[in-house]
Amino acid sequence: MTLIDGKAIAAQVKREIAAEVSEIVARGGKRPHLAAILVGHDGGSETYVASKVKACEECGFRSTLVRYDVDVTEDELLAKVRELNADADVDGFIVQLPLPKHISEQKVIETIDYRKDVDGFHPINVGRLSIGLPCYVSATPNGIMELLRRYQIETQGKKCVVLGRSNIVGKPMAMLMMQKAYPGDATVTVCHSRSKTLVQECREADIIIAALGQPGFVKADMVKEGAVVIDVGTTRVPDATRKSGFRLSGDVLFDEVAPKCSFITPVPGGVGPMTIVSLMKNTLLAGKKAIYK
Ligand code: GUN
Repeated sequence: MTLIDGKAIAAQVKREIAAEVSEIVARGGKRPHLAAILVGHDGGSETYVASKVKACEECGFRSTLVRYDVDVTEDELLAKVRELNADADVDGFIVQLPLPKHISEQKVIETIDYRKDVDGFHPINVGRLSIGLPCYVSATPNGIMELLRRYQIETQGKKCVVLGRSNIVGKPMAMLMMQKAYPGDATVTVCHSRSKTLVQECREADIIIAALGQPGFVKADMVKEGAVVIDVGTTRVPDATRKSGFRLSGDVLFDEVAPKCSFITPVPGGVGPMTIVSLMKNTLLAGKKAIYK
């Protein structure tokens, strides 16, 4: 069994990005600039955004954090999105989700200029992904693709089961794994909370990508000997022994599943660090105007 070290790969990719940024700046080019909008004080969102800002520093990017209280109006937020769309110095930006209920996430996403949508959430980027055109790809699935690539995991013709159908992870993940490319070229099945044959599908899978947000959902008797298991789960569960009062729990019952696997990602230290790095890669692409002019 090989433990996939997302933390080490993420550090490596950040070094590669930083080296490229140094070169760009040395040639007189523009330093990539990522902006992030954070609404409210959700613990998870605060942590993610802080990690994104820190990653920008490590990559040599400029970053701007725009904060709003939880009672910001939708109009105020949309006005800021339009301002960032028009700001020539900002190469890409994100609006951290989830947003408070009185704000339409969809409206916010669709107001972002798709050419600056480094999250890859805008319908134009999602549509372009689905037909194999260059676009910004959602960070978590893109990070998983990078792990499969760097560990040279075979995907062609393999049976890949994606657990979860979210717009951010499950759907783009399925799209990427079925694309005619490496990694990809897999036979993809998407299972979700209503799937009747989920356990059977998992037992037949060569690759399982678990993104349900249900701690310990994937058990040893659901996994084939030699399978590749990618755990996207990062649910906070109470843990009195931790200073923070919680720990992150994956969707996979790691201790009993790992011995059966050819490759498996741990939680934490697997997919998580790659998600942030994928956003950095998209920001570099935005800075270079590599996808859209
Ligand atoms: N909330 C959870 N994941 C993400 C992400 O990748 N981007 C944004 N903007 N919000 C998130």
